[in-house]
Amino acid sequence: MTIALVILAAGKGTRMNSEKPKVLHEIGNASMLIHTMRSGATLSPERTVIVAGHGFEQVRKEVADYNPNATVVLQKEQKGTAHAVSFCREALSDFDGDVIVLYGDTPFIRPETLTKMLKARCDNAIVVLGFKAKDPEKYGRLVMKDHSLERIVEYADASAEERNIKFCNSGVILAKCDQLFDLIDSVQPQNAQGEYYLTDIVGTARERGFSVTAVCCNETETLGINSRAQLAEAEEVFQQRARNELMHQGITLQQPNSVMLSYDTVIGRDTVIEPNVYFGPGVTIESDVRIQAFSHLEGCHVSRMSVIGPYARLRPGAELAENARIGNFVEIKNALIGQGSKVNHLSYIGDAVVGATANIGAGTITCNYDGVMKHQTIIGDHAFIGSNTMLVAPVTIGNEAMTASGSVITKNVPNAALAFARAEQVNKPGLAQKLFEFLKTKKAKRDNSE
Ligand code: UD1
Ligand code: CA
Repeated sequence: MTIALVILAAGKGTRMNSEKPKVLHEIGNASMLIHTMRSGATLSPERTVIVAGHGFEQVRKEVADYNPNATVVLQKEQKGTAHAVSFCREALSDFDGDVIVLYGDTPFIRPETLTKMLKARCDNAIVVLGFKAKDPEKYGRLVMKDHSLERIVEYADASAEERNIKFCNSGVILAKCDQLFDLIDSVQPQNAQGEYYLTDIVGTARERGFSVTAVCCNETETLGINSRAQLAEAEEVFQQRARNELMHQGITLQQPNSVMLSYDTVIGRDTVIEPNVYFGPGVTIESDVRIQAFSHLEGCHVSRMSVIGPYARLRPGAELAENARIGNFVEIKNALIGQGSKVNHLSYIGDAVVGATANIGAGTITCNYDGVMKHQTIIGDHAFIGSNTMLVAPVTIGNEAMTASGSVITKNVPNAALAFARAEQVNKPGLAQKLFEFLKTKKAKRDNSE
């Protein structure tokens, strides 16, 4: 079956109280629109058309970044869901398959559910996705007769009896392209809200003798987001789903509820995640890694057998080879850390390449920024960087080289050399004792005079 994906995303989302169009608000660090497109992409649609209105340019840019082949059409005034779909007519004029309509603000429809709809479509002209609502609120109601969907009635237009129906409309609808647009032509704005309702095509299709059915999914999938509170609820739903998925894949989460994941977090088997770890976008962790408590990771890759944290920060471009050890209060940015190398305490390693089995002492800092430009630090295999070394980039430390603690290294250090770059120590015999006595006498005088 060839499929075209239509996503409605023109609404303003007044209740979000935001400058941003509603569908660009994020869940798991990806916009609702990206979630919806990802979910729809599992059907391998031949075309994707997004209907945008409010924040058109922003929406267009978001779509182009994710799928440059998608078409974004403008619905200037929002006169209802049928009116919105009608703007896709041109983009689909030569398309001869099925159209599935999703809402940009309903981002959690599972691929399995969409597949179920495709199956039902074999015996029906139109398939609608419904759900049993615990609290049906203001959703449209699905009026069923046996296994047939007779019509959809919006809450505002429903009778008291119809309002008692718990089977609600998710908004997702699947129909053959030409039939869909034929039916949309017949929609009139004769209802409580004066809008062109897409839901009206069901009743018309039945009158014309088409068979229509509804498929049921779990309510968590159809969670629509209209306010910040619902956005927070959606985040929770997403996080729970993502955590469960990871555990199912063989990853240990010691305290699942305290771990925050992103839409694209990838973690390998037998990795252990301690409590309170944050995964920003673009993180891949291989297997048998341990991420200790309170670590913050984004845009990074961690290879097998590494141990990170507690309290570590891996920023974009951090690339850790196998068996790396990144300890507490260490920040790594745009740096390769070689196999078996250690950066254990209180360090900043940025714009750097660190070889294998190097040891970076406590408090080491790569001084990568001169106030205008960034520069690189290169540290060789098996190098030993003494504690509190400042590596003023650009600078190269050779293989098996050492730096003395407290050094400010501004020049390259050859292989196997030891670099001292600090003032030489001078000892004054007995001077400490004299100084103590002098200070004690001074304090005693002051205390007496008070
Ligand atoms: C819609 C359904 C309702 C269903 C509910 C599920 C209709 C008439 N009603 O109601 O049966 O229970 O969703 O959440 O379809 N949009 C546009 N252009 C428009 C109007 C809407 O792009 O002119 C987009 C919105 O941005 C949103 C989606 O369509 O993403 C749904 O629109 P909304 O106004 O939220 O519909 P509901 O009243 O919630
Ligand atoms: Ca809505």
